[in-house]
Amino acid sequence: MASANAVASFFFLCLLFGGSLAQLSETFYDQSCPRLSNIVRASVKKAIETDVRAGAKLIRLHFHDCFVNGCDGSVLLEDAPGIVSELNSPGNQGIQGLEIVDAIKADVERECPGIVSCADILAQASKDSVDVQGGPSWRVLYGRRDSRIANKTGADSGLASPFETLDELKAKFAAVGLGTTDLVALSGAHTFGRSRCRFFSHRFANFNGTTSPDPSLDPNYRRFLEGVCSAGPDTRANFDPVTPDVFDKNYYTNLQVRKGLLQSDQELYSTAGADTIAIVNSFATREGTFFKEFRQSMINMGNIKPLTGNRGEIRRNCRRVNSNSGFGGEGHDVM
Ligand code: HEM
Repeated sequence: MASANAVASFFFLCLLFGGSLAQLSETFYDQSCPRLSNIVRASVKKAIETDVRAGAKLIRLHFHDCFVNGCDGSVLLEDAPGIVSELNSPGNQGIQGLEIVDAIKADVERECPGIVSCADILAQASKDSVDVQGGPSWRVLYGRRDSRIANKTGADSGLASPFETLDELKAKFAAVGLGTTDLVALSGAHTFGRSRCRFFSHRFANFNGTTSPDPSLDPNYRRFLEGVCSAGPDTRANFDPVTPDVFDKNYYTNLQVRKGLLQSDQELYSTAGADTIAIVNSFATREGTFFKEFRQSMINMGNIKPLTGNRGEIRRNCRRVNSNSGFGGEGHDVM
């Protein structure tokens, strides 16, 4: 009787946690696509040679993928009958890099047709983007499958906003099982790439209902950014004014001198009494500490609710479900 209860509990837990119990593995494609990591790496390098921001675009796509229904390629699905694309969500508007994913997928399909998911391509491409630009490297875990559904309302509520406070950011990370160190480490991806002015120009004046600019924004840096943004709200500024395209610890040294670009960046250092301050200081002091935590946090993020086993599918085109799937077919349970 006791063992029957144990079996029943096990199945209940499997149902409760769905795909998250299934293990991803480093060796998943060893037989079916042994050259996968070389193919993706070459493709990412090629993309960065023509667009220095390619890596930044790819890792951001992976982040936005994993935070909505888990890492299942759902962010890449475009509008189609039965699919309301997550790309319509305010948090995804203006997100870039889908054509880079198409190019990587085409390179992979040429050698391993129908084998590798778009979700795994995003995970691998993110790792390559970071290490090609000077950051750490790690062994990527594979075995994610692609969803047949998108979750636009999940994107509306789950994606972090640059206007949020530290507590709000922590809550969004906690909702997908990530902690405070993950929040601080993963935000370090803002060491490269750009942001449009519309996401930080509210800091220039009348900040939070006052008559002043954001006091946690360095006044000289503010004047510099005001100059950049005089060209309009869609102008892009470097996240890191010092080494804009290098993956290094400068994101954290910038925070220490009030040169975080987004309000959500600076919150990590300027929120009085916050537990994130000590973490920022430790990453700013030793790049090795940042890289070690970043590696681990990328693995943690990549493990969010993957679809594994027979769930989902291996999409042929990352922007569309396979035509024989039908609509509203198997995917994640709706959150
Ligand atoms: C903590 C909460 C976060 C917020 C509020 C946030 C917000 C933003 C915003 C507003 C932009 C600019 C978008 C645009 O101009 O279109 C951006 C860009 C970017 N984000 Fe985040 N982000 C966060 C965390 C992350 C994480 C965890 C990663 C990756 C691990 C990441 C990677 C990037 C990169 C690389 C860019 C530059 C993309 C480019 O140049 O196209 N962000 N983020």
